[in-house]
Amino acid sequence: MKLARAININDLRKMAKARLPRMVFDYIDGGADDEVTLKHSVSRFDDYQMTWRSLLDVSHIDTSTTIMGQDTTLPFFISPTASTRLFHPAKGELAMAGAAEKAGVIYACSTLASHTLEDIAKATSGPKWVQIYVWRDKELVRNFLARAKEAGFTGCILTVDLPVPGNRERDPRNQFSLPPRPSLSLARQTITKPRWAWDLVSGGKIEVANFKELARVQDQGGLVGFVNSQFSRGVTWSDVEWMREFWGPGFAIKGISRGEDVKRAIDVGADTVWVSNHGGRQLDTSVPVIDLLPEIVEAVGGRADIIADGGVRRGSHVAKLLMRGATGVALGRASLYGLGAGGEAGVLRALTIMEDELRRTMALLGATKISELDPNLMRAPLQ
Ligand code: FNR
Ligand code: LAC
Repeated sequence: MKLARAININDLRKMAKARLPRMVFDYIDGGADDEVTLKHSVSRFDDYQMTWRSLLDVSHIDTSTTIMGQDTTLPFFISPTASTRLFHPAKGELAMAGAAEKAGVIYACSTLASHTLEDIAKATSGPKWVQIYVWRDKELVRNFLARAKEAGFTGCILTVDLPVPGNRERDPRNQFSLPPRPSLSLARQTITKPRWAWDLVSGGKIEVANFKELARVQDQGGLVGFVNSQFSRGVTWSDVEWMREFWGPGFAIKGISRGEDVKRAIDVGADTVWVSNHGGRQLDTSVPVIDLLPEIVEAVGGRADIIADGGVRRGSHVAKLLMRGATGVALGRASLYGLGAGGEAGVLRALTIMEDELRRTMALLGATKISELDPNLMRAPLQ
């Protein structure tokens, strides 16, 4: 099917489902436990109802804004996602970053990327941020961050909602492993997806590309072995300070869900608080981000930017998060469905759909710039 026929993100999701082996699609699409947060994060937007201002001149809509010090023409951007080559074995992160540059949005690269920071930087001159986890081995993190700076990444995102991986039940059911290992189950699921399989074989092994020094751990235990060997469960707020100091300004803490943690994040020097439940992939039945925002906005008290993500599939969802006080909105699956549907062109299609929908929503609301996305144009649900 032609990408142009995808008229919304859900169409791209269907195309990605048709193109990817089931275990790969389910790794993107799935969530933790009963997937309550995953579903609720999308559907909760519908409970927020909007009114509009009539007869305003909306012939020019300006969607530009500044997020964590980065000027951008759009208030949304690409969220970090692990092992992107899995979803598009030929170009992975390079396709994501390329589409981001073309659409004029920021690209955030995961620690668990399947291309090196240097290769990503070579492929795009658009604005780039890098994401890290808190690891046992400080030296490893320090080197990674130094390389990111050198390669021109201007923002650092520390993800804190993954002390242990969430319980994503689709993965063991599909016998999914990262990287994919030869198995009967993989053969069965890829036999009808020859293009994906060919690209995987010709593109070479999928690995945590920025940590080649840990190749042996990866060979033995795959991504899970790598995560278990490196992720530290014993990290607390005081361990964050050195990272913030090392990096400098442009430092976000991702995966915050409580006002009291906002205060701690700002105390350790974060200039951006990222409210997220990791797209429903971690703690199930956690609160949808749109409901959390008032508490977060109050705790921030204008001292930091606020990024929000989770379940964003429509331009109106972006508008609603901004109306609730977010400075910027991150897209996880919306861009991944595009990638699975058609590589770089598919991601660009996803970003274009989101932009068109956002512009239309703003025109219908009577808001010509981001600062006019007034909270009074929306009613929060009674509960
Ligand atoms: C993620 N996410 C994520 N976050 C992060 O900080 N580092 C990572 O490596 C990953 N990896 C990852 C892989 C996949 C397949 C998905 C779907 C998500 C979480 C991501 O950045 C974001 O917070 C959520 O995806 C937002 O929810 P939506 O937009 O996907 O509903
Ligand atoms: C995920 C991790 C790796 O959500 O962030 O799959």
